[in-house]
Amino acid sequence: MHIQFDERNLLAEMVGKQNGVTRAEIGRAGSKALKALKSFRKQSEQGLYGFPHLPFQAKVVQDIRKYASEVRGSYDTVCVIGIGGSALGAWALDCGIRGPHPVQGAFTPEHPRLVILDNVDPSFTQAALRSMDPRRTQVVVIAKSGGTAETVATFLIVHEWLEQSLGRKTAGRIVAVTTEGKGDLFSLAQSQRYRTFAIPENIGGRFSVLSPVGLVPAALIGIDITRLMRGAAEMTHLCWQPSLEENIALHAALCHWLVWTRRGKSIQVAFPYSNHLWGTAFWFRQLWAESLGKAHNRAGAMVHTGQTPVAALGTTDQHSQVQLYIEGPNDKVFSFWAVNKFSSTGRIPRRRFGQPAFDALAGQSLAKLIDAERRATAAAMVEYGRPNCTVTLDRVDEIHLGAFLQMMEFQTAFMGELLDINAFDQEGVELGKKFTYGLMGRKGFEKYRRQFTAYERKRKTV
Ligand code: PA5
Repeated sequence: MHIQFDERNLLAEMVGKQNGVTRAEIGRAGSKALKALKSFRKQSEQGLYGFPHLPFQAKVVQDIRKYASEVRGSYDTVCVIGIGGSALGAWALDCGIRGPHPVQGAFTPEHPRLVILDNVDPSFTQAALRSMDPRRTQVVVIAKSGGTAETVATFLIVHEWLEQSLGRKTAGRIVAVTTEGKGDLFSLAQSQRYRTFAIPENIGGRFSVLSPVGLVPAALIGIDITRLMRGAAEMTHLCWQPSLEENIALHAALCHWLVWTRRGKSIQVAFPYSNHLWGTAFWFRQLWAESLGKAHNRAGAMVHTGQTPVAALGTTDQHSQVQLYIEGPNDKVFSFWAVNKFSSTGRIPRRRFGQPAFDALAGQSLAKLIDAERRATAAAMVEYGRPNCTVTLDRVDEIHLGAFLQMMEFQTAFMGELLDINAFDQEGVELGKKFTYGLMGRKGFEKYRRQFTAYERKRKTV
């Protein structure tokens, strides 16, 4: 496994003192980084946070693989019902290993399609159902809480759709991933005898990609989850090292913390130069936003901290966003995600038409071009004083993707420690959920319905 972090374009020598950090600053903050590492390790060892332990849970991987091999061949579509942390990991894995949907080729029982129902847009849901055959669809319903409105509503629709075709065999087509012994989905799964896989209590949604939340869909679509976990285990080992040279997650967290808190770069653009990493960019967006956007620090003081993550795709967004990135407000830090070896070099034919723009590229390769474009964009950003760094994956396979996902989770956890906030809760999303429950008439949420009505009344007076 080979993943590198290159921080040089974050340095003041490259982008100026106002925008970049100095080696001396990084050196001085080294002890703070070590403290962050120790503090997170202690909490992880106490069992508070479970994601670092996931790559070592061989039995879970074995059980999931066994289940996938039992049902393989009986479906050509895997339909995931979940949202947020219960959906984005599956997308990151599918897109990472098999590529974005339009280039995945014909779907067969050996190569099933993954359909993720992570929104309650009725047109989308209806169209998705029309595109699937209930007799050839394996349903995975995922909810840690077991009661998320979007997931529950979609499940009820999908369940009826299955039942109309399968009758009493419906339960055999459903696997539930949820907290063991808790929540309505668990109770339902027990009563209907669905196959279930447990989400450990100490794994939050956005940190759950390497738990059954990501692994069950991944195994069902044929991803080698053992190799995924091998990469994640190797990265975990590195992420416990005290040296910044070895521990790239800690190094990256520290550099980002300095550029953000000392140079005011309050937006981070995750900029993969790989369509395979596009799903991962959206997975990262949730991880970084929900973990680090917080009102209070651990001591209870009001801090309203957070760095806004943005996803951009290279080279595509060079022709859409880079004008803003280079000439607009200098409030961003750019994280390029580079890939050394693509599955094909994309040879450009040698054909010469006598047109300079065409002849210049004839005989070269797309791999060389995408690499040149990324390096050129990084250099142009430096010229304009825009701090950027690069994480390079040797290739996008199960080993490297597992390692990269784990690196990003560690980086986020370390950043939480550096900011002295709880990166693992999400109080801010609760009120909207409660209003929704009130509006949909859920028992116990009458108070929120009244509060919402008062808000609507006020809106009418302004
Ligand atoms: O990261 C999180 O905790 C959230 O994004 C959750 O994953 C999301 O709200 C879905 O929750 P649940 O799995 O309970 O349906």
